[in-house]
Amino acid sequence: MASNKKLLVLPGDGIGPEVMREVRRVVDWMDRRRAVGFDIEEGLVGGSAIEAEGNPCPDATVAKAKAADAVLFGSVGGPKWDSLPFEQRPELGILRLRKDLGLFANLRPALVLDPLVDASSLKADIVRGVDIMVVRESTGGIYFGEPRGIEVLANGKRRGFDTDVYHEDEIIRVARVAFDLARKRRNKVTSVEKANVMQSGRLWRAVVGAVGKAEYPDVELEHMYADNCAMQLCIKPKQFDVILGSNLFGDVLSDLAAALTGSIGMLPSATLGAIDAVTGKRHALYEPIHGSAPDIAGKGIANPCAQILSFAMLLRWSFGLEDDAKLLETAVEKVLAGGLRTADIMQTGMARVGTSVMGEAVIRELDKLAA
Ligand code: IPM
Ligand code: MG
Repeated sequence: MASNKKLLVLPGDGIGPEVMREVRRVVDWMDRRRAVGFDIEEGLVGGSAIEAEGNPCPDATVAKAKAADAVLFGSVGGPKWDSLPFEQRPELGILRLRKDLGLFANLRPALVLDPLVDASSLKADIVRGVDIMVVRESTGGIYFGEPRGIEVLANGKRRGFDTDVYHEDEIIRVARVAFDLARKRRNKVTSVEKANVMQSGRLWRAVVGAVGKAEYPDVELEHMYADNCAMQLCIKPKQFDVILGSNLFGDVLSDLAAALTGSIGMLPSATLGAIDAVTGKRHALYEPIHGSAPDIAGKGIANPCAQILSFAMLLRWSFGLEDDAKLLETAVEKVLAGGLRTADIMQTGMARVGTSVMGEAVIRELDKLAA
């Protein structure tokens, strides 16, 4: 057997630790049944790291993340820490990891699974078959741009400001990720910005256009204003294959795309760094789209599927284990087709179950599929 893969698991806050427990069963299953082994380390992030170390992203966590082959992240935040000063908030845990590991390409699939087509707030006809991948730039733009701050003016009034800034190299590298993905999917990229009002948007449009023309003439490229994209997602979501956007527009539009599916508790994501020219490795972090859901934390009712499917993405993107990823995705779909539902995706006539029953059911399906 090849040497074990090093995983860093960061359960974080809220429902993070509960759903991560179910993933650990899947990891154990893969260890036992498939030709792949994992060495797991755990670390602190978010509010739980604030409690233990007074820092939402301790240096030790960053060091472990850098040393790992892949990071599996839960979720951070909760009302307990809402009143902390800006620079101590749990959310900085994920932002620092993205920045320090150079995780610039955030892949956020919005996939409508057939058994859940009625869970969407949109009509079934509009969402059936929706399969969108949002590629969000995640180390630049307004999230990190300087100057930023709140200043007090001479007249005593406060002024808050942020900077949306992109270097063309940052646009080029994330555009390539989007185009490469499109080639493996339906061959279309919709690049979003506000080139009508923003200078960084003008550059974004020009650079993505140039990359498309020079390197991906075979991929259909469409430019769209971000506000129009929001509208189109609600009217005709099936027109989209890959949506490429800045940190801010990608954040907003990926939530919208996820909501279309009606089951945010089902959606995973991956955030990837550059491939190292020497080792061929890349840093990568995998996390569910849903947050820490403090309102239901500790009740054993959270949906573990997004965290489990994040592990499937990890198998695929970090280790090239396409068969194992597919196996896991199929197992989750079969559990749903069999009628089990957590509260967030409950439908009439289905059986309502909690976090651990859902996790056990996935293991049972894995057993059957591998038999
Ligand atoms: C996300 C979240 C984060 C973001 C927060 C928690 C900082 O909304 O991953 O989309 O804005 O990037
Ligand atoms: Mg967000």
